[in-house]
Amino acid sequence: MEVIIVDRPEDAAPIVAEAYTRLLTRKPAAVLGLATGSTPLGVYAELIRRHREEGLSFAEARAFLLDEYVGLPADHPERYRAFIEREFTGHVDFEPGAVVGPDGLAEDLEAAGHAYDQAIKAAGGIDIQILGIGADGHLAFNMPMSSLASRTRLKTLTPKTRQDNARFFGGDITQVPTHCLTQGLGTIMESRHAIMLGFGRGKAQAIRECVEGAVSSHWPASILQMHPHATVVVDDDAASQLAFTGYYRATYAGKPTWQGI
Ligand code: PGA
Repeated sequence: MEVIIVDRPEDAAPIVAEAYTRLLTRKPAAVLGLATGSTPLGVYAELIRRHREEGLSFAEARAFLLDEYVGLPADHPERYRAFIEREFTGHVDFEPGAVVGPDGLAEDLEAAGHAYDQAIKAAGGIDIQILGIGADGHLAFNMPMSSLASRTRLKTLTPKTRQDNARFFGGDITQVPTHCLTQGLGTIMESRHAIMLGFGRGKAQAIRECVEGAVSSHWPASILQMHPHATVVVDDDAASQLAFTGYYRATYAGKPTWQGI
């Protein structure tokens, strides 16, 4: 696991966007794993800028969302499929149909989860999976005590997560769905490169537990310690409880530029 500490959240965007640029240059038909939430928005803005100003193209790429609410109508603005189009994919050149998410409106949600894992596999697997982290260490909607080997499946949102997300539903928690379909931790672990971002003091404990603590379903993102290529990008605040910050800083400062993240 590589840990990169940046001064400010906005300093993470060019570092992560560069990994996408290198991937898409080497492999234009790459498969991207996309996260919603506020954390990756700076990266998406930088990718949109590179598309507009530097010709970065997603025309041959495909993308899979991490998760989706269950039961929100197809035209609901807070569906993650709508969110990602508004914040990122609608501003670049993905082909129609190239961006998909779990089917939160499926009658058979168990089958929909299974089909989603199969679709990722059929596409050749995810090349870069971008991830946020919850203050409780959740990864996608894999809440504490999720199976570390889990696949895409139905999960119940914790009251805390519903409360956190109520801000997108006019502050009314009763409007926030109770369930979601989420990629499992086992699904996420099959990505070739996992990049997890965490910003702000509210994430500091989760970053400490998941980066330097024991691998445990109590802190689901700790499973990334077992990933063969995981990069964690945090700002000073989110890094404030880490023990080995001197080592992380020295390693990144001494990294050969050809290597990338
Ligand atoms: P955030 O959410 O990016 O809005 O902080 C992250 C998460 O809950 O997974």
